[in-house]
Amino acid sequence: MSARPQATEPCGVAPWPALGGLALRAMTLADLDLVCHLEQQAYSFPWSRGNFTDSLAAGYAAWLLIEPPASGTRRAERQPGCLGYYVAMPGVEEAHLLNITVAPAAQGRGHARRLLAHLAAQAWGQGAQTLWLEVRDSNQRARRLYAFSGFTEVGRRKAYYPAGQGLREDAVVMRAALQSPGLLPAQLGGAEDSHDLV
Ligand SMILES: CC(C)(COP(=O)(O)OP(=O)(O)OC[C@H]1O[C@@H](n2cnc3c(N)ncnc32)[C@H](O)[C@@H]1OP(=O)(O)O)[C@@H](O)C(=O)NCCC(=O)NCCS
Repeated sequence: MSARPQATEPCGVAPWPALGGLALRAMTLADLDLVCHLEQQAYSFPWSRGNFTDSLAAGYAAWLLIEPPASGTRRAERQPGCLGYYVAMPGVEEAHLLNITVAPAAQGRGHARRLLAHLAAQAWGQGAQTLWLEVRDSNQRARRLYAFSGFTEVGRRKAYYPAGQGLREDAVVMRAALQSPGLLPAQLGGAEDSHDLV
């Protein structure tokens, strides 16, 4: 069995080469105005501020994908932009992705794959073998992303999500082995493809 690579490098604040100049940093309470704003833009049934507060208090992995201000921007105007975020609950040899969101204006540019790759690196570095998640049956875009990233459907939770007008929607339960070549970034032994993490 190959040695388990450490995830220290990709998880720092400094830009990770695979992120093409973007950076990841841990979410804090001070970020929640912005995060809740993005959350409400991205979902019909968004997480509440309390969901984020509880996740941070519990020590869950919560990370923001940041776009540094353009060079040449005046110092007073330098506000890094938040492109997306994820929240994951660590477990014994596994991690459970609870929330992954990309700002609507930034979707379709591979940012969710960057966030997933970071989650994989983090979880792998902490001894996880498996990632779990639930996704709405109707969320085809997210399901395609997860399938591309090495997740497979392993079950369903009936009527798990509210769907408006008193209706409910099933959750699809998906699992990925962290050795999965689609999920791990190249630095950790995964394969690169045309949608790689540059
Ligand atoms: C789902 C979500 C996180 C995806 O974020 P994103 O940054 O747009 O995703 P990415 O660009 O990394 O990848 C998704 C797209 O790339 C495609 N893609 C990803 N990897 C690919 C690969 N290797 N080859 C081909 N296509 C690929 C996906 O199929 C999808 O494209 P499509 O919708 O045009 O088919 C985002 O749409 C979002 O925040 N949605 C609202 C919140 C949400 O639903 N979260 C998930 C809850 S389970």
